Amino acid sequence: MQKMKTLLISAAALLTTQLFGLSNFQSSKTCQKCHPLIYKEHLGSQHKKASIFSDPIHKAVWDTHPLKKKELYKCAKCHTPNNKEAMVALKEHKKYLPQDNGASREGVSCVSCHKIESIKHNKASNTNILTKDTKKLFSARESEKSVKDKKFQLSRDFFGMVTKKSGSPYHDIDFSNELFYNGNVCMGCHSHKENAHKLKVCDTKPQEHPNTKETNCISCHMPQVKGSFTTMYDSKTHRYHGFSGSIHQPQILAKYVSIDMQKNGAGFDILITNKANHALLLHPLRIGELQVSIDRNGKKSSLKPVQFVRVLGKENHPAPPWIADKILKDTQIQAKEQRKIHFDYKLQKGDKLSVALGHYIISTKVAKKFGLDEKLTKFVLLKEEHFDVK
Ligand code: HEC
Ligand code: HEC
Ligand code: HEC
Ligand code: HEC
Ligand code: HEC
Repeated sequence: MQKMKTLLISAAALLTTQLFGLSNFQSSKTCQKCHPLIYKEHLGSQHKKASIFSDPIHKAVWDTHPLKKKELYKCAKCHTPNNKEAMVALKEHKKYLPQDNGASREGVSCVSCHKIESIKHNKASNTNILTKDTKKLFSARESEKSVKDKKFQLSRDFFGMVTKKSGSPYHDIDFSNELFYNGNVCMGCHSHKENAHKLKVCDTKPQEHPNTKETNCISCHMPQVKGSFTTMYDSKTHRYHGFSGSIHQPQILAKYVSIDMQKNGAGFDILITNKANHALLLHPLRIGELQVSIDRNGKKSSLKPVQFVRVLGKENHPAPPWIADKILKDTQIQAKEQRKIHFDYKLQKGDKLSVALGHYIISTKVAKKFGLDEKLTKFVLLKEEHFDVK
């Protein structure tokens, strides 16, 4: 009889587990076991490589930055938010120089994003506010959007056998944070950055082209790809965590740009349409380039390439971001813009046109100045189109 009673109790029992604390500086390694595919993608991303120890360009700029002499690594806020020592120093306005350790090399870690509760908007740059709840992570799932505190649960039958699992045994999940649905979770770091002269050295211009439910930072930069998001359940797809951009696998984003050609008077126009809600290239170091070549009866000739730049400067001379007080020139292809570029070249029937749009991560001049690898000055192709002239 006694035995029967305990069975009955356990039949109804919904077991929840006791969780360990999950700090705001938790290593991404912690997540590898249950989220191996996402972990691997993150490993190859620029987020993982954001510290001076994994990103030679960030290191080169830091090495010449006046803040280095002052021993104030303010870059930590966005480049190594997982490094507790660096973040505490920043908060207390104390000196700190980057140390080559595991914490720095975490870069923008899993928890750096998944613990973002809200974003504080500031003029100089925004700030991520992380949750103080040591068990909670935020994520998006349309079907469970009202669930604020999903805990791990095991349902057992009469015989103590597990019939159903749900949630994660390692962390609670809050699916109710709007930032994870509309892409604004990225805007703590990616919105804008102002220098001491009140110049926005970086500006994604979210006021002019805000994220929408359908088209936002997540929908384009985190497409659904094959494979389960966790080893514990079988989902067919997960959100890509490699975050392609101008450095890492830009071709994944090629579908958001279209290239057309039309004859115009004695010459022709190339039309480039940027579907992104930000300028095609955002970082002032990047240089876009359009290359057009014509194959006429097997003889190939290349037209003069057209470049797209954003030049920061002072007193009409280009200047580094910490000195600049104005934008000298901005020919980057803007958000949602269709750019028409005219070529004064008479096409003939049978001509074959090849059009390539791409960029340089840095210029040869910058590479020389900073002693950076020449590899970084190679043309990176985003998209190529061919047109037969009729
Ligand atoms: C408010 C957040 C924020 C702060 C603070 C910040 N950065 Fe960045 N940084 C970014 C973001 C976001 C990107 C990527 C954006 C892009 O590629 O357009 C980036 C990219 C860069 C790049 C280009 C990386 C590459 O591989 O080409 C360099 C260089 C850089 N930052 C230097 C610095 C330095 C040096 C500091 C500190 C003095 C700093 N940043 C502070 C957000 C920040
Ligand atoms: C012991 C295994 C385990 C570990 C370790 C673990 N997770 Fe999870 N996680 C899960 C499971 C299982 C789910 C799915 C829960 C569900 O669907 O009900 C999940 C769900 C999630 C989700 C939400 C999924 C969604 O559909 O939106 C996020 C985000 C997440 N985990 C991030 C992390 C991060 C970041 C870490 C490391 C700090 C981590 N997890 C560590 C097992 C784990
Ligand atoms: C409609 C799709 C789309 C949306 C929405 C979108 N992007 Fe992009 N993003 C692109 C494309 C296309 C590129 C260009 C890649 C290239 O030129 O190599 C890009 C490039 C970037 C880069 C690299 C820029 C550089 O100069 O190195 C960053 C950083 C970036 N996006 C962040 C964001 C953020 C943050 C949001 C949300 C505000 C966002 N993107 C929304 C398509 C999109
Ligand atoms: C740059 C920010 C960022 C980083 C870094 C990041 N994530 Fe995410 N992750 C997101 C966002 C945003 C979503 C929600 C996408 C959606 O479903 O709308 C997400 C979704 C997820 C999901 C569930 C949905 C799915 O289908 O994939 C899991 C699980 C997850 N992340 C785990 C991780 C783990 C583990 C790491 C580290 C290895 C990590 N994330 C690093 C921003 C990030
Ligand atoms: C904690 C700050 C932070 C958050 C949050 C963040 N990023 Fe980033 N992101 C960075 C930094 C820093 C870099 C530049 C790293 C480098 O190259 O040194 C970067 C680089 C990128 C790039 C350029 C990759 C390339 O190959 O050129 C893309 C695209 C990007 N982030 C998209 C996103 C999206 C989408 C989100 C939101 C889901 C997001 N980021 C959230 C800090 C952040």
